[in-house]
Amino acid sequence: MPDIGYGIVGTGYFGVALGRAFHALPNARVVSVYDPENAAPLAAEVGACQESSVEALCARDDIDAVVVASPNWAHAEPVIAAARNGKHIFCEKPIALSYGDCSKMLAAANDAGRIFMAGHVTQFMNGVRHAKALIADGTLGDILYCRAVRTGWEDVQTEVSWKKKRDLSGGHLYHHIHELDLVQSIMGPATEAFMAGGNVAHKGPQFGDEDDLLLITLGFGNDRFATLEYGSAFRWPEHSVLIQGTKGAIFIDLQKAGVELKTVDRQERFLLHRSQEEDDDRSKIYAGNKTSGPIVYGNPSSEAPLWLQGIVEMEVEYFHGLMLGEPISEEFSGLTDGSAAAAAIATADALSLSIKEGRKVGVSEITGQ
Ligand SMILES: NC(=O)c1ccc[n+]([C@@H]2O[C@H](COP(=O)([O-])OP(=O)(O)OC[C@H]3O[C@@H](n4cnc5c(N)ncnc54)[C@H](O)[C@@H]3O)[C@@H](O)[C@H]2O)c1
Repeated sequence: MPDIGYGIVGTGYFGVALGRAFHALPNARVVSVYDPENAAPLAAEVGACQESSVEALCARDDIDAVVVASPNWAHAEPVIAAARNGKHIFCEKPIALSYGDCSKMLAAANDAGRIFMAGHVTQFMNGVRHAKALIADGTLGDILYCRAVRTGWEDVQTEVSWKKKRDLSGGHLYHHIHELDLVQSIMGPATEAFMAGGNVAHKGPQFGDEDDLLLITLGFGNDRFATLEYGSAFRWPEHSVLIQGTKGAIFIDLQKAGVELKTVDRQERFLLHRSQEEDDDRSKIYAGNKTSGPIVYGNPSSEAPLWLQGIVEMEVEYFHGLMLGEPISEEFSGLTDGSAAAAAIATADALSLSIKEGRKVGVSEITGQ
């Protein structure tokens, strides 16, 4: 069987993690990379060429799939170029910073008849998959409410990363779309959105211009609700997703790393990641971060921790399987056609409109459906 050829756009912190994971798979070859500044180290490590443009990379006959790991604002162009050149696509989160862009990207992949997979890697966590299996088998009853929190404190920056600039990253809500996606993967797409908050403690040249405190309420119809908190204006860091059903509840602890189930007659704890070693790696890092907790960011000179490499390996293996002709799994179908990622951005757009206009917004105002 010929190798599947991969091209990588953006080889900073995460493009390198993805590139290494693809390189390690059987029947996979990282053929070429494009990055305006940091292409050389990964290219040398995996024996790939360096391209001078996205177009040149996408035009190569020996590339079957393009992996997009450029900054958030720079996803739409390579995705559309890849689709135009008949390539399959793996795109990092958030896939785009507007629902309008998501629609164009999905349409391009769909028109080309190619797979568009969103890199919502949280969905590959052992504990998340196990929680969903328990929901599916009725252990929790009807899910009434979810609460997701990803908060910490940002200190003064010597250099302000693109990740802290609203027009480049989308700010906490878009950059940390994982938690919103996770809630929607459990409760379905939100129908109503309300967000309060603002930039309350991080003004000035040492900081970006994103909002640092976001308080979100989502409605799903049928008396189902969720709340989410995001931001970097919280001295007490938290990172968790709580799922409340009529028969039981699950607490996904992303900070101390573990998942707990409680029903009337069961109380069990599960691993969050693949092994105790990965869970310990995660909780140790969080403990070391003290007040910044889950809002610490990677950059081109940092390496993904063990627990993150683990889930990246699993999502990359799944995508590679699709390239080799394996069927789309029911569990990841929403990730594999981009629909879950677009639904998350639609809700994020509704929340952005909500905070701007100070009102509850129907997600249909964004999607038109
Ligand atoms: N799934 C996850 O858990 C996870 C974790 C980290 C990052 N990410 C995502 O991966 C993407 C990259 O983030 P990162 O942490 O690697 O950032 P980074 O800043 O470390 O790397 C970004 C790289 O993109 C390059 N770049 C800049 N403009 C570009 C362009 N127009 N085209 C191609 N490359 C360009 C930069 O030179 C840099 O090397 C982002 O979308 C981010 O949200 C996902």
